[in-house]
Amino acid sequence: MFPKNKVIFSAAQPTGELHLGNYLGALKNWVHLQRDNQCFYAIVDYHAITIPYDPKDFPKKVMDLALDYLALGIDPEKSVVFIQSHVPEHTELAWILNTITPLGELERMTQFKDKAEQQRGSINAGLLNYPVLMAADILLYQPDLVPVGEDQTQHVELTRVIARKFNSAFGEYFKEPKVYEATIARVMSLLEPAKKMSKSLGPNHCLALNDPPEVIRKKIAKAVTDEGGLAENRVSGGKNLLELFKVLSDDKATKDAFEEQYKAGELKYAEFKPALAETIIKVLEPIQARRAELAAKPQEVTRILLGGRDKARLIAQKTLQDVKERMGLV
Ligand code: TRP
Repeated sequence: MFPKNKVIFSAAQPTGELHLGNYLGALKNWVHLQRDNQCFYAIVDYHAITIPYDPKDFPKKVMDLALDYLALGIDPEKSVVFIQSHVPEHTELAWILNTITPLGELERMTQFKDKAEQQRGSINAGLLNYPVLMAADILLYQPDLVPVGEDQTQHVELTRVIARKFNSAFGEYFKEPKVYEATIARVMSLLEPAKKMSKSLGPNHCLALNDPPEVIRKKIAKAVTDEGGLAENRVSGGKNLLELFKVLSDDKATKDAFEEQYKAGELKYAEFKPALAETIIKVLEPIQARRAELAAKPQEVTRILLGGRDKARLIAQKTLQDVKERMGLV
């Protein structure tokens, strides 16, 4: 059942342009959730600095993500949209939670192990403590549900462990938030259909939300459609493209027609690919237009983010105060 009257918290890192997979896999769902729930959506800049980054570019990345949130339909009248580092309670609670988080739990986190592997020799403590900051992000707002992708569910589980630890040490206080897994689209790479669409694979694997129509047409034209050979868990590029069409198009008759062709093994890519490209363009056009409009008014975006900060802070301060009282910090 679709959630109603719940408190929802989620966040994304300002690490670069969003792509269609981010939208269909996560943010579209955030937009739906805000209708009947109280949602908090943060831009987690303190998480993003745990990996190498360029401080000169960074303000733009944060602004870009704010523009993406708003252009995709996150409504600051309904949801609280803010920048993590604007609300100092996040790092304060993170410190406190660090003191009750078992080191072994942090060391066994899959994401930590992966990133530590990639950055061998330059592993900072922030990378290890990342999930504690994430737990602080979440617990400050006492949400019922945390919509995250599969790669983050382990961190939400750890948040529950930390909440339980706190409750058993200092008295029942935190509610244990649950992962909210919507039935969302998994958008795959255009060139390697077995892999999830991701910026790190390269620009032609990915449809950026800001790609202009010509670029979208070109990328779709180049997308692989083979049936993945005879490998065990073979993945079909053609099937992925068809799924994408089904998610994006509202033309049921055409969807059914393409699906039948596909099932019969005779999908005509010379017709299907242009139809898919135009469908993507139609979905992205209004988003791109809204984004351009907002980008021309940066002071308006700043005003929204500061408004979000003020709303978030009121709640965060209350939680932190309660926590400190229970811990004997006077
Ligand atoms: N770690 C998350 C990611 O990389 C981002 C994040 C930080 C987050 N704090 C959060 C997500 C709290 C949900 C809730 O995607």
